Amino acid sequence: MTGIKHVGVVGAGQMGQGITEVCARAGLQVTLCDVTEDRARAGLAGVADSLLRAEKRGAVTPEDRALALAGVSVTDDLSRLSKADLVIEAAVEDEQAKTELFRQLDKVADPAAVLASNTSSIPIARLAAATGRPEAVVGLHFFNPVPVMPLVEVIPSLHTSKATELRVRAFAAEILGKKTVVAQDRAGFVVNSLLVPYLLAAVRMVSAGTASAEDIDTGMTAGCAHPMGPLRLADLIGLDTVAAIGEALYEEYREPLYAPPPLLRRMVESGLLGRKSGQGFFDYRVAGEGPARSTS
Ligand SMILES: NC(=O)c1ccc[n+]([C@@H]2O[C@H](COP(=O)([O-])OP(=O)(O)OC[C@H]3O[C@@H](n4cnc5c(N)ncnc54)[C@H](O)[C@@H]3O)[C@@H](O)[C@H]2O)c1
Repeated sequence: MTGIKHVGVVGAGQMGQGITEVCARAGLQVTLCDVTEDRARAGLAGVADSLLRAEKRGAVTPEDRALALAGVSVTDDLSRLSKADLVIEAAVEDEQAKTELFRQLDKVADPAAVLASNTSSIPIARLAAATGRPEAVVGLHFFNPVPVMPLVEVIPSLHTSKATELRVRAFAAEILGKKTVVAQDRAGFVVNSLLVPYLLAAVRMVSAGTASAEDIDTGMTAGCAHPMGPLRLADLIGLDTVAAIGEALYEEYREPLYAPPPLLRRMVESGLLGRKSGQGFFDYRVAGEGPARSTS
């Protein structure tokens, strides 16, 4: 028994919405928090849309959809997470912002609560150091889209207690039905340490004019049986997030393969963030996805 019945989710972006949805579908009470109530409400609307699509696919009944939604409340006030047994932070991939959030969460959360981060790359030890309960701080890294992807990486820091690690593993596996792997507290953990250099290599290829974004993606889907090409995947993750993960990996390892290339930085600075902004390596603004745009 994990004793986890109420989950606080911080950050109502694409990951926070997905985490909220899977927790709510598992019958848990969820409090979803973002910097403004409007953003938190927009997050809840995203969860409602996704549940409706799941109902249309026959994946949930209308009753279960209604029950799941009824279990979610939204707020812009972190202190409303005081009753949560587990808080999952899924805010922007920025170490300073996350450190500050963990400092505040430590103050407002129940003393027995576990504080988890969905960070893709920031060492858990640094977030734990901002709290007075490092033994109860752990990485819980979901994959996008959360309702579809079976994996959760569990990342104990050097201070995380075995009890915390086992509790969140049981939560992910038994309550959410996810497959878990445990990774050491190194930037990028297992999956992003392997994935992000590959995505950055594809961006460098576009930049060098080796092939178009469309052809690079087709190369990997039709040639290597990947379900999605690297540039569509980067767009799905969010180019700001990919760049931030690259920065964190580069800071940790000082290997050039992790450094975000100039084209990626320019796209992020220009607001071309991928699917979430409507444009990235591909254009998502009209009727789903249009042809590749030239970004080189
Ligand atoms: N996008 C992915 O594929 C993916 C996959 C796994 C993990 N992650 C990680 O999940 C986290 C969130 O990523 P995302 O893709 O959902 O980003 P996103 O940009 O879609 O959403 C981030 C949300 O965090 C909110 N936020 C920022 N500061 C906040 C604060 N102080 N308090 C509360 N909310 C705050 C923003 O308003 C925004 O709604 C990041 O750490 C990212 O690295 C992302």
